[in-house]
Amino acid sequence: MINLKIEENVKESQNVNTLYFNWDQDIRPGQFAMIWIPGYGEIPMSFSGLGRRKSITVKAYGSASRKLTELKAGDDLFLRGPYGNGFDVREGRKLLVGGGSGIVSLYPIADQETDALISAKTRDELIFKDRFPESRRFIATDDGSDGFHGFAHELLQRINIDSYEAIYVCGPEQMMYKVLQVLKGRKVFVQFSLERTMKCGIGICDSCSLGGKQVCKEGPVFNIEELIGNPEFGVYRTTYSGRRIRLNVK
Ligand code: FES
Repeated sequence: MINLKIEENVKESQNVNTLYFNWDQDIRPGQFAMIWIPGYGEIPMSFSGLGRRKSITVKAYGSASRKLTELKAGDDLFLRGPYGNGFDVREGRKLLVGGGSGIVSLYPIADQETDALISAKTRDELIFKDRFPESRRFIATDDGSDGFHGFAHELLQRINIDSYEAIYVCGPEQMMYKVLQVLKGRKVFVQFSLERTMKCGIGICDSCSLGGKQVCKEGPVFNIEELIGNPEFGVYRTTYSGRRIRLNVK
């Protein structure tokens, strides 16, 4: 277990905060850490910043993540990692497709040639919108309160996909499943970062299993070819207690 100190806690939106800390560690974009919140348990988090200062961006969702968003400068941050394979970051024009808080794990890829499609339920839930200049971003909201009125995969269909060297996707699995339907069969290089229930983070417990693949170890990043035909992608998710729940993707 690594013990770091929080340097700064910056509010991104009503229930999303970015925690900054110094950590002299090589991390590839898309890798994650298991963050331990004493008294609450461990949760997997990808990194939102990999520069001199590292960062994680946390959405207050359950009790553990809420507690994490409340940490202040000087507080302890406990973690294990980095784990997982990370993205294969290509040269040239790139497009990030982030649904909900998915843009967080994609952000470390961004450079001057990167565009972002950021989607959320409402305007208030858009994360990192202002980190991309207007000319480099596409915005979609389910309720039409900002940008395109509709879902990420619908907006993606209106974008010149062939103008990109690579497309990187992260978000709720239902959203990624639909994005995959738009992108499959295209020539562009595509990778997805999956979010599944994780307990050990290192290939022991099998709680992150996805049709015979362990997301923590073989992923969380997968090429589009690895997901096409996977019997569980977009079909089932597993809860923390191990129960399988069918996803309602239409
Ligand atoms: S989280 Fe335990 S095997 Fe992946």
